[in-house]
Amino acid sequence: MSGVNEIRKTFLDYFATEGHAPVASGPLVPRNDPTLMFTSAGMVQFKTLFTGVEKRAYATATTAQKCLRAGGKHNDLDNVGYTARHLTFFEMLGNFSFGDYFKERAIELAWNLVTKHFDIPASRLLVTVYIDDDEAADLWKKIAGFSDRRIIRIASSDNFWAAGETGPCGPCSELFFDQGESVFGGPPGSADEDGDRFLEFWNLVFMQYDQIAPGDRRDLPRPSIDTGMGLERMSALLQGVQSVFETDLFRALIRASVEASGVPAEGAALASHRVIADHLRASSFLVAEGVLPGNEGRGYVLRRIMRRAMRHAQLIGAKEPLMHRLVPARARDGRRLP
Ligand code: GLY
Repeated sequence: MSGVNEIRKTFLDYFATEGHAPVASGPLVPRNDPTLMFTSAGMVQFKTLFTGVEKRAYATATTAQKCLRAGGKHNDLDNVGYTARHLTFFEMLGNFSFGDYFKERAIELAWNLVTKHFDIPASRLLVTVYIDDDEAADLWKKIAGFSDRRIIRIASSDNFWAAGETGPCGPCSELFFDQGESVFGGPPGSADEDGDRFLEFWNLVFMQYDQIAPGDRRDLPRPSIDTGMGLERMSALLQGVQSVFETDLFRALIRASVEASGVPAEGAALASHRVIADHLRASSFLVAEGVLPGNEGRGYVLRRIMRRAMRHAQLIGAKEPLMHRLVPARARDGRRLP
């Protein structure tokens, strides 16, 4: 398993074979959803299916969703370039059940994909569950054969997922990959959890509630499933690199930035090239959806992203505008970059 395109295809094909309808990514700017500035997760286009307001021909689905986390509740803008895993724009792979299967099948499907198709050794994996979710803990024991030591109970909001202040939500169970002792960091819930050793790569959300308003949480008509796997993080893991910026996809973009600027991706310039590569994707996809730089709302977020990229281009010494020259960047073999 190597390239980002192949990893995305393996995920979508697996869930299609398991009976899920392959559904195209929803837009980055959610339609008819005043609660969100941008699509921040795969479940956004399915909110009305979870709540039962809308019915479609399928009860399970799989997607590769374009996401942006640069404004509103989910905002990673200032981390980009300085950590191994934060991006503003990324693709989220997901499988969804709208009142069809629930915890057991979700865990079984995830476990089989990760260990049998992505061939990740079980010995490198651990999971979290919401503190009082004995059912999920027991299922991990049964399906993965985990002992209590590899099932970490978390009480905080890290293990309860919601797209915004209102809407479908629920407790979750996250899958982590242990990159080994040579990487700094501690397991989830420990003082050093923000280090990179334990990489969170998949979140299984047990959708059970609809948050109508603060303090008013009701049961969904039927328990459902929403999962989110960061394609770029999974690619780093499967390509054996420690940063999303070292994957094939980002190497090609950083190479384009290096060639256009004439500045090697080394020392202080490394973070700048990474910022430029990430922000190039975010701003290109936003402009493609009709968002233009402006003084408020989405336009202001786009303006901040573009301004930050341009500042980094200046920092590495670019004398002429750089970003627009990178938009057509292709992988070395001429493939379009995903
Ligand atoms: N909706 C699940 C996640 O974004 O983690």
